[in-house]
Amino acid sequence: MLGWYDANARKLPWRAPPGAPPPDPYRVWLSEVMLQQTTAAAVVPYFSRFTERWPTFEALAAAEDGDVMAAWAGLGYYARARNLLACAREVAARGGQFPRTEAELHKLPGLGAYTAAAVAAIAFGERAVVIDANVERVVARLFAIVDPLPGGRKAIAERADAVTPADRPGDFAQAMMDLGATICTSRNPRCLLCPLSGNCVARREGEPERYPFKPPKKTKPRRKGHAFWIECEGEVWLVRRSDKGMLGGMRALPDDGWNARGDGSGEAPLAGPWQAGGVVQHVFTHFALDLHLALYSGDEWARLEIGDGEWWSLDRLDDAGLPTLFAKAAQLGAAQRGEDR
Ligand code: ADE
Repeated sequence: MLGWYDANARKLPWRAPPGAPPPDPYRVWLSEVMLQQTTAAAVVPYFSRFTERWPTFEALAAAEDGDVMAAWAGLGYYARARNLLACAREVAARGGQFPRTEAELHKLPGLGAYTAAAVAAIAFGERAVVIDANVERVVARLFAIVDPLPGGRKAIAERADAVTPADRPGDFAQAMMDLGATICTSRNPRCLLCPLSGNCVARREGEPERYPFKPPKKTKPRRKGHAFWIECEGEVWLVRRSDKGMLGGMRALPDDGWNARGDGSGEAPLAGPWQAGGVVQHVFTHFALDLHLALYSGDEWARLEIGDGEWWSLDRLDDAGLPTLFAKAAQLGAAQRGEDR
């Protein structure tokens, strides 16, 4: 794997070249938090913007919450951004000391088993066993592990542990990730190019795509909700979502609390009248949402409580840092601007 990585490592802005000394731990940590649940291609522009604006733990710790949440907008899984700030502030409070071992890293906010192991291996050269979804797939195929996920993770972890070297563990982890991302893909794996094909039990069996075994997919429940487009003189009313719950801390259109109730029965911020403005569909981890946009066609704007929200210029809507769900809804709203109705 290390030989393959030397020749085939993807060039990514948070990486040191194969065999080179490790990169700045801040950059390793930031990239690994961003890469949870997200592809490298999607992370690259966010990583560049974050490191330019906040190049150190101290700089990030001193940032405004709202600025960091807005810069994260579009990456999804917003709890990661809140934990990112909490972690940077904890490191800054310790005088900038970032722990160097997997066990200590695991105690920081937002550093789960995966991230702690990845940072320990990549930034500090600790022989940690790093398992993300790509590595899981490679190992399940290599050893033809038939225990279905999630229970099968134990067998996968044991096998991954057995093949992790003491030498260059960070490069090894990233080699496994790259193999999973580019060769040992979920569908149509390119076994002819794989450095492990001679050892791979799943390939020998002839159907590597069967692995890893997974329980049957549950269909996601559908929820319904409303978002409210309230426009006045080229500005739209935006709110800041509460820190708790989905999309917590993000700027958003006002809504009816679909997150808690899910039946679209919550209240509008104004009495109306409202016109139907279309539907946005969005899929979250545990449910799919039909978000119905309601367009305000009254003139009782003064009833909105400044403090709960703010007027935001439609010309600067792209800078509002709306998470994708609300960015889609805002696009729909902006396409039906008040003066055009
Ligand atoms: N996914 C998670 N961590 C990664 C890394 N360091 N390189 C590439 N893909 C990753």
